[in-house]
Amino acid sequence: MGTYKVLALYVLLCCFLFQCFAGGLDTNQTAELLVDASQALGPPISPTLFGIFFEEINHAGAGGLWAELVSNRGFEAGGPNTPSNIDPWSIIGNESSLIVSTDRSSCFERNKVALRMEVLCDSQGANNCPVGGVGIYNPGFWGMNVEKGKTYSVILYVRSSGAINVSVSLTSSNGLQTLAAANIIASVSQVSNWTKFEVLLEAKGNKS
Ligand SMILES: *[C@@H]1O[C@H](CO)[C@@H](O)[C@H](O)[C@H]1NC(C)=O
Ligand SMILES: *[C@@H]1O[C@H](CO)[C@@H](O)[C@H](O)[C@H]1NC(C)=O
Ligand SMILES: *[C@@H]1O[C@H](CO)[C@@H](O)[C@H](O)[C@H]1NC(C)=O
Ligand SMILES: *[C@@H]1O[C@H](CO)[C@@H](O)[C@H](O)[C@H]1NC(C)=O
Repeated sequence: MGTYKVLALYVLLCCFLFQCFAGGLDTNQTAELLVDASQALGPPISPTLFGIFFEEINHAGAGGLWAELVSNRGFEAGGPNTPSNIDPWSIIGNESSLIVSTDRSSCFERNKVALRMEVLCDSQGANNCPVGGVGIYNPGFWGMNVEKGKTYSVILYVRSSGAINVSVSLTSSNGLQTLAAANIIASVSQVSNWTKFEVLLEAKGNKS
């Protein structure tokens, strides 16, 4: 079967090429193409050999076969050097409330790039954070297929020089509707070094 397919493809190609030449030279010219598709002639092909064509377009690989919902989850898209490309992550807030950068301080040997957020505003006092807070968000691979009633696991590694109260949420694509949310609260001693947090978010609605 494999042999046959290969030969068939080759034949089509020959026909095509021939027509091109014929058109350019003499349209009345005829030719005969003989293909011996008997198994004896071709090289032996293992019966367990299968071929497949795969091209990483339209998120067929990352975000497709690899069903990760967060795009550029390790801030690795820009390569191993910093400053690294954090696209498609976007920043919530502006430079008066938040400074976002990348450095090579992560706890992962194979990807040292970490995202650093310097929060300049507070929940109280003179420099109040904007309503909804500051931070970063990820639009996924052309969105995330969030479905009502399903539970989504969000894992992040955090290190901080102060106590944290980080809100993790799934929202509609315009960010206006919160589909699920949870807070990660930790004292400074708990997060003085890289600490893994897993949050389970059950969607209260479908993405829109
Ligand atoms: C092709 O054949 C036709 C009919 O036999 C003839 O009229 C025509 O002139 C030929 N064309 C060429 C390019 O030889
Ligand atoms: C912090 O954690 C890393 C592993 O993630 C470890 O190699 C390092 O020794 C830790 N540092 C301190 C001060 O505990
Ligand atoms: C930053 O955002 C705040 C609203 O949260 C706004 O008042 C301020 O003008 C903005 N600053 C800059 C530099 O865009
Ligand atoms: C954490 O922040 C949320 C707002 O996102 C607030 O409602 C909650 O009281 C805070 N919790 C603590 C322990 O500070």
